[in-house]
Parts: sequence; structure tokens; C-alpha cells
Amino acid sequence: MKCRKCGGVAVINMRHHRLALCADHFVEWFISYTQRAIERYRMFGSDDQLLVAVSGGKDSLALWDVLSRLGYRVDGMYVGLGIDGDDGYSAASQAKAEAFAEARGLTLHVVDVKQTYGESIPELAQMTRRGRKPCALCGLVKRHIMNRVAYEGGYDAIATGHNLDDEAAVLMQNTLRWQTGYLARQAPVLPSTHPRLARKVKPFVRLYERETAAYAIVRGIDYIYDECPHAVGSTTIFYKGLLNQLESRSLGAKLSFYLSFLQAKREGLFSEPGEALELNDCQRCGQPTTAPELCAFCRLWVRRIDKG
Ligand code: AMP
Ligand code: FES
Ligand code: ZN
Ligand code: ZN
Repeated sequence: MKCRKCGGVAVINMRHHRLALCADHFVEWFISYTQRAIERYRMFGSDDQLLVAVSGGKDSLALWDVLSRLGYRVDGMYVGLGIDGDDGYSAASQAKAEAFAEARGLTLHVVDVKQTYGESIPELAQMTRRGRKPCALCGLVKRHIMNRVAYEGGYDAIATGHNLDDEAAVLMQNTLRWQTGYLARQAPVLPSTHPRLARKVKPFVRLYERETAAYAIVRGIDYIYDECPHAVGSTTIFYKGLLNQLESRSLGAKLSFYLSFLQAKREGLFSEPGEALELNDCQRCGQPTTAPELCAFCRLWVRRIDKG
């Protein structure tokens, strides 16, 4: 297989784009494709101060790499979840994120959940939701911490490494249940609705997971290969498998599923309900919440104190 641009040996064939490229031209294409997504969805501009949420995995480290190569002002943030003890998944992923930042002279904020709030994610899950997977709680805690770090550090937007496979799987889940509220909010950009809630952006939404992995490998980025051990057997992974089957029968199916959804939204499908939700300040942490007194994050810790 030959590179379409230079005739050299291709390292990747993106059949849905009918595009095979060599390593150098793939890197060039990948960066400019990301920049076009940033512009197309009006994610941020060159004056914005960005915070990229890094998990130590390929997507978020590739994103940090691309954004800094594009010249954006971008710091990283890693949330230490305490999964698998002292030398397990969280410790290993933190080491990857730290090594990446150090080698490039980039700033990484690290917030360790146990050190900051008293309990790790598995411990908190054990106390508050015995027997249930910690993933939903983990998502809630990560969102809260990201908003706090962005607010305190004066960042304009939080960027995450969600790729097309992630977004298509969530879209499928939401569509199968016609969860119109979630569908209305699923987008490449989530604008800020409150001074303490930063804008959320996902510059990789149009990139297949295979492409972000190829970028990380070609660029020599050292990332953690393992998935979170709690994700094993999750519905998201099941839907990713279904979508892969679909893609193997019908080239470009994932991309068109997602892009047609965005098009349908532009045409008025799933418009947000007329009345905006009323937001109150949480009495404990000050972050906005639809609840009357305490936000979901603070209720979690208060419940833990009650039980303890
Ligand atoms: P996941 O939900 O694990 O697929 O992660 C989706 C995105 O969330 C990643 O691409 C990161 O941008 C961000 N993320 C996940 N885990 C962490 C973490 N421990 N610390 C900071 N950001 C994270
Ligand atoms: Fe949070 Fe797995 S439970 S990353
Ligand atoms: Zn080439
Ligand atoms: Zn709160």
C-alpha cells in the first residue's frame, strides 16, 4: 500500500476516507483534521487557555500532543482515582501522564481523590453503593474535579480525548432508549452555562479509535494500554463491539451515524426543552446544581460521613 501524497510506504489505510498515508503524511493529516474540527465546531481560539483531561491513555495524550503542536496554550490535568491499589491501574496511568508532561516541559495538575477528599473511588463506591460498579460515581467525581480545577485555574475550556468510537457507542445507548435529554446535550462542544462550569470540548469526535491509536504509536507516545478494570463487561464496550460489526459490513457506518446525528440536531431534532433548568449554588462547595441545597458530588461525601 502506498501513501497517496508521496508514494512512500503507507502505515495506515483509512478506507472510509479512501486515504492511505505514510507516517509523516498521516501525522500531518491528523493534526490538520483535528484543527478543522476545532474550527468547524467553534471549540476554542488561540487566545483561550485550555485544560486537557489526561487519563494516561492514547486518546488524551495524543490530544495533548496535537494541541500543543498546534500552538494552543494547554495544561493537563490528571485525576488519581486510586483504582487497584498502590501499583495498579491508576498508579500506572498517572506515571504515563507525568512522564509525558515532564519530557515535553508541560504543566500537569494532579488531583488525588483519596488525598484530597479522604477516600479513593473504590472505597467510596464500597461505602455508598455496595455491590454496584463504581463507574457512574467515578464519572461524577471526575466531572466535579475537572470543573473545580478549571474554575480555580481560570481555564476557558476543558478538552477530553473522547473519540468517534466513544461517541458513537454513547449515541447508540442513548438512541436505543430515546433519552432525549442526553441526546440534546451530546455534542462536540458543551457551552458553559455558569461561570463555575467550564466549556467542554472533544476535538477527536470525528476520529476513529484506530486512528488515535495509530497517531500515538507513530509519534512514539508511551501510554497505558490497559482499560480501567471496572470497564470490563460494561455496556459501552458491548456497544463498541456491535458498532465494529456494523462498520466491518458497512464502511464509514460509525462516522455517518454520528455525523448524521449532528446534522439532525442542526435541523432541530432534540432541541433542548424551552425552559432552562434553574441552577442553585451548592451550599458546601459552591458549584452550581439543580438540587436545592447540596450538589450530587457533596451529597456523596455527606452520605459517606453519615454511614461512617
Ligand atoms: P474514558 O471515560 O475513560 O473513556 O475517558 C474519556 C476521557 O476522559 C479521556 O479521554 C480523558 O480526557 C478523560 N479522563 C478519563 N480518565 C481521566 C482521569 N483519571 N484524569 C483525567 N482525565 C481523565
Ligand atoms: Fe472510573 Fe473505571 S471506574 S475509570
Ligand atoms: Zn507520504
Ligand atoms: Zn457541592
